[in-house]
This record gives sequence, structure tokens and C-alpha cells, in this order.
Amino acid sequence: MSHRAVPLRRVLPARLAGFVGPIARDEQGVIDAMAARRASLNPAQLLNRLPLTAQLYESVWRVRSLGLLAGRPFPIAEELAELAAAVQPALLRGGVVLDVACSEGLYGRHLAQRGAEVVFIDHSRAFLNRALRRCASLAIGDRVDAVRTLAAHLPFADGSVDAVVMGGSLNEIGDEAAAMAEMVRVLRPGGRLFCMSLIPARSRRARLIQSLVGWSGIRFPTAARTVASLGASMRLVEEHCDGIVLRITAEKTPLVAPSFRQPPAS
Ligand SMILES: C[S@@+](CC[C@H](N)C(=O)[O-])C[C@H]1O[C@@H](n2cnc3c(N)ncnc32)[C@H](O)[C@@H]1O
Repeated sequence: MSHRAVPLRRVLPARLAGFVGPIARDEQGVIDAMAARRASLNPAQLLNRLPLTAQLYESVWRVRSLGLLAGRPFPIAEELAELAAAVQPALLRGGVVLDVACSEGLYGRHLAQRGAEVVFIDHSRAFLNRALRRCASLAIGDRVDAVRTLAAHLPFADGSVDAVVMGGSLNEIGDEAAAMAEMVRVLRPGGRLFCMSLIPARSRRARLIQSLVGWSGIRFPTAARTVASLGASMRLVEEHCDGIVLRITAEKTPLVAPSFRQPPAS
């Protein structure tokens, strides 16, 4: 089935009144919120714009990667179960979830199949097209949408989404702090964030490899730094680390009404 044949229900106009900008789709159904923005991309990001990378990434590397990096067997099913548990409140309410820097939409596809409405975010048109096509072939094309933009520039209003997920992308995203601040900004109070990322290795050999990979723009922020980048409005719910594979779940704290002090009795 071609992607064009799938009726997109269009999560954005229906559910996200907070979308900032015109909702104009290209012929694949992707909304381009990046066209006017000049972005300087690192080599890893440029590689991800190639159709060949988009074709091979998930099936060749992604489904095996955590098993190789965690220092123990770590099947993809276990990762996806952790993800779904982390954002369970959003699944229960059929909430809107952003899959930021989604590639082929591994996380978003899983969540859309479990009740969420998903907006895929990536700067790579090749990856977004693939994410939409894969959803179409799973008959969940009506539960997803796709926006081409940078993670540090999410075109959504403050507090407009129920959950934000990011799988393995913090390492190549460029400005991690700005991207994290954006993801936190668009979350509603009580909304959940799940982020899997790779941290610095312990062994000298592995650290050497990580520093060599650094030429491509890939970085390995520590767990402490990643947690700190969540900022004061987020409460850490869970933190797990196996080998260099960090997973954090955090929740945006509900808004607290200002408290008024009683004037002292005269
Ligand atoms: C490691 S892959 C992500 C894998 C995917 N999240 C998953 O779990 O399979 C990195 C992805 O991030 C995207 N990306 C990198 N930097 C980005 C940025 N600044 N804004 C949006 N997407 C970005 C790339 O195009 C690529 O699709």
C-alpha cells in the first residue's frame, strides 16, 4: 500500500491546537517546520539525511545496539516494555506523544499501537518518510503525524503534549541542553519524559573508541549531566543504567499555586 493511500487523521490539527505555524504538508504527509531555518549539522546528522542510512539504520543497527552496549543481553522487546511502562499514563488517556529525533519511529510506532497519538520529529526527511510508511503498513497511519524540525525548536505551545520520548538521539543532537529544555517546555504538568542515551564508558579502550567517534559530533553526556539538564520543573521517576545504556523517566511537576503568608497578628 502506498503511503498516500492512507487517510491521515492528522493528530496535529485535531489534538494540538498549540502548533505554531502553518500546517502545510509535503506529498508524503510531512509538515516542514524547518524549511526557513538554516541549521549547521554535524557529520552524524548529515549522514542521517541519506536515504541509504534511513533504509539500514533500524534493521541493521538499532535492534541489536543495546545488546552490544549494555554488557548483558538487552532485547529490543525489553527496551520497548520499559518505554511503554514509563509513559503508561499517556497511553491510558490516549494522549499525544512526541517521538523526538525518531529515525524510523521505533518508539512512536510501539506507542501508537498501544493507544497513543504520536507526532514524529526529526530533521531528516528520509527518516520521517520511512516512519510514516512503516506506520501505514501497520495500519496505524491514522494515529501519527510527522514534523520536520530540530529538537531544539519544537513548534508547539508550552504544556501541550502528554509525553515526550527520545531513543538514543541525545548523543548526536548537537545542543543537548537546548533540546532537553524544549522537550520539557512542551510537556504538560504531570506529563512524562523517557530518554535513552549512551554515557561515557568505563574502560580505557571503550573511552578511546568514544573519543574517536567524537569527530562525527556524537557526544556522551554523563548520567548526572543528563539528569541535571531536565531542570527544576522535572521530578526524576526512574533511572537505570546497564553498561553505557542510560534510561531515565521523569515527570513534570504540577503547577503549584503561589502560597500567601498570613500577615502577623497585631
Ligand atoms: C540515533 S538515531 C535515533 C534513533 C531513534 N530515536 C530510535 O530509537 O530508533 C538519531 C536520529 O536523530 C535525528 N537527529 C539528530 N539530530 C537532530 C536534531 N537536532 N533534531 C532533530 N532530529 C535530530 C537523526 O536524523 C536520526 O534520525
